[in-house]
Amino acid sequence: MEEMIAEGTRKYTFIKNRMEMQTKILSPTARNIALCAREIATGGVVAFPTETVYGLGANAFAAQAVQKIFEVKGRPPDNPLIVHVADFAQIDGLAASVPERARKLMEHFMPGPLTLVLNKSHAVPGVVTAGLDTVAVRMPSDKTALAFIQKCGAPLAAPSANRSGFPSPTTARHTLEDLSGKIPYILDGGACRIGVESTVVDARSAIPVILRAGAVSAEEIEKLLGAAEIAGTGVAETETPLSPGQKYRHYAPKAEVTASAYNELMHQRITEAFDNAVSTGKNPVIICMDKRIALYGNRSKYIAGANAADYARNLYALLRMADADGFDTVFAEGVPAAGIGAAVMNRLGKAGKGLVFL
Ligand code: TXA
Ligand code: MG
Repeated sequence: MEEMIAEGTRKYTFIKNRMEMQTKILSPTARNIALCAREIATGGVVAFPTETVYGLGANAFAAQAVQKIFEVKGRPPDNPLIVHVADFAQIDGLAASVPERARKLMEHFMPGPLTLVLNKSHAVPGVVTAGLDTVAVRMPSDKTALAFIQKCGAPLAAPSANRSGFPSPTTARHTLEDLSGKIPYILDGGACRIGVESTVVDARSAIPVILRAGAVSAEEIEKLLGAAEIAGTGVAETETPLSPGQKYRHYAPKAEVTASAYNELMHQRITEAFDNAVSTGKNPVIICMDKRIALYGNRSKYIAGANAADYARNLYALLRMADADGFDTVFAEGVPAAGIGAAVMNRLGKAGKGLVFL
């Protein structure tokens, strides 16, 4: 009898593994948010919108649930996750201590596109932080995200909801493209307002260190705290990456991306490179600003928008579109690397094979 049960269980597991889960996109009604919160409560993972990009969440205190995130995404285990909260009390439960400068950043920029790296409390499982003694925390401003985290009653560990290495999803549809069959639900909050991931700041030292550029700019942080360091360019430069995720190839479509540094004559270099690519049998597309479109004649192009904020909002969708439209090469205009422009230039560089400037 025991053997039969064991046999039956094996068969069941086998069938279950082969069955593709049907992923549902859900509108963010109170009922659907409650359904997704129940999924989280039973150890599941759910994709949800934020103002930056879509996230793939699990209860941050449930190690096994968090482990599923890594499996679903194909994410390297040494890349830690950001923990998403709905209020400051949850941050106090995750961090061993919150220095005064971190409080200031919280009061000024949260909820919003800012992530703080703090010393972690013992309550945070090692799988969340990839064994580091720090934890990254963020309170999104998106109202669906906040309602969902609140309903879960626990902070959510959540990376961007893309397959590891690919551009982050900025719509529910993108999330489905990447994770269809692997997760039960995607909460649909529409297109993300900002479009690039949060600014990550290590707030432990006297001079805060910006580990990843985002919509909260270095200029704003410097203005609030009097100083800020950008990792990799100043005294913060180090052998081991401070933000482990920054060492991986990221945000990359299948097409090869070449980004230009911003200057008034960049269209000349881009046009030349475009024509060269065509003559070697490639199928390239240009990403350019609205007002510069005429400079490229009848060459294939996508419009990034009128300013750096538009570019940030549209960038990942355009990189995905390049693949969908069958382009194998992307030449992207640069923007001045100030404000959110710094985040756009950082992501463009990483979408290519390292920083490739024309
Ligand atoms: O806007 C965002 O931040 C989005 C949305 C979903 O909130 N999330 C996001 O997560 O971009 P992810 O996992 O794609 O990127 C998290 C970044 C990685 O570069 C990771 O290495 C870094 O944050 N990070 C996480 N925990 C860290 C820690 N304890 N110390 C340093 N860096 C950390
Ligand atoms: Mg990511």
